[in-house]
Amino acid sequence: MTERADDPLFSPLTAGELELPNRIVLAPLTRSRAGQPGNVPRQLNADYYAQRAGAGLILSEATNISQIATGYALTPGIYTDQQVAGWRLVTDAVHAAGGRMLLQLWHCGRMSHESLHPGEAPRAPSAIRCDSCQVFTVDAEGRGGLTPVSPPQAMTAAEIKSTIDDYARAARNAMAAGFDGVQVHSANGYLLHQFLASNTNTRTDGYGGSLTNRCRLLFEVMDAVLAEVPAGRVSVRLSPLFGLNGMADANPADTFGTVAAHLNRLGIAVLEIADTDVMAGAEPRMEQMRDFTRKRFDGALMLNGGYTPERARATISAGDGDCVSFGRLFLANPDLPERIGRDGPYNEPNQATFYGGGAEGYTDYPALAG
Ligand SMILES: Cc1cc2nc3c(=O)[nH]c(=O)nc-3n(C[C@H](O)[C@H](O)[C@H](O)COP(=O)(O)O)c2cc1C
Repeated sequence: MTERADDPLFSPLTAGELELPNRIVLAPLTRSRAGQPGNVPRQLNADYYAQRAGAGLILSEATNISQIATGYALTPGIYTDQQVAGWRLVTDAVHAAGGRMLLQLWHCGRMSHESLHPGEAPRAPSAIRCDSCQVFTVDAEGRGGLTPVSPPQAMTAAEIKSTIDDYARAARNAMAAGFDGVQVHSANGYLLHQFLASNTNTRTDGYGGSLTNRCRLLFEVMDAVLAEVPAGRVSVRLSPLFGLNGMADANPADTFGTVAAHLNRLGIAVLEIADTDVMAGAEPRMEQMRDFTRKRFDGALMLNGGYTPERARATISAGDGDCVSFGRLFLANPDLPERIGRDGPYNEPNQATFYGGGAEGYTDYPALAG
């Protein structure tokens, strides 16, 4: 067992304006337990996050920037006054427990179903449906289940403009709700990733075609967000080799190398690189992503995807990353830093309660006694 004093996971990290007391981060985790109606965070959510306030940093679950951005039922938003007030419960609870928390800003794009925004088709760079993709919806009787995504419509120039405005409003609302900053979700096959990737963006205007054009929406969103939140409090999440949700970029090294270099120039605090395919059982591939991670970005580099505490320690010791975000391990172990410090043991995550429901599988994972 590594003594805490010598353990790189427990050395503090300064990331822009953020001071992390340790390198163990709670990864963004959708849990589909927002209060209804209105997708409003509530006390149950505040309890869940406060239990995990021992993290060096908490990344919130993905949070919709507008109704049309919504792709899954029961996920929270950050576009109404009620949602801002609901998130205030969460940030107050996390701060009272000694934690720090960023809000993850989300637009699902084509990964959506019309019932989540009645009368409006999901919006995407191009009208290309992911035929194998499903999202979670709830019917009028309250029965939830997975449904094939609806065919998306290609966004008009006016819709692109209003989407950028929605990101700005969401970032402003996040700061009003007491978050320590925001993370722009540009990973996992959602809207901003759909614009970046060559197979989902076949536009012929200034937002598609060349790599410069495919990057344009993300870069304009970043400018809008950075007008609301200091760069030292901003993170971006990318998943360069993500192959789920119908994503297949022709040249990820080029695409994500360019994106990482631009984010470096913007001076954001934290770049998170997620190897999310591990969720579907893929072997970890972080080593293949070195070219567009450490080489391109001088700020704090956060790595994610299938990390054990041992691998996280080795990665940080080798200088390949500055901190590691843990998803499923932190989901099941609210006191994860404490457990890592004691070398375990660890609770096992229960997949059946990942999404939806109440306290079971959410706030009832036990902490270590004494
Ligand atoms: C239940 C669940 C919900 C998730 N929700 C999100 C999310 O809201 N935003 C996001 O960027 N990634 C999300 N992910 C991906 C995780 O952040 C992380 O990338 C993934 O779990 C791999 O990390 P791990 O091996 O440490 O669990 C989710 C994963 C799980 C298991």
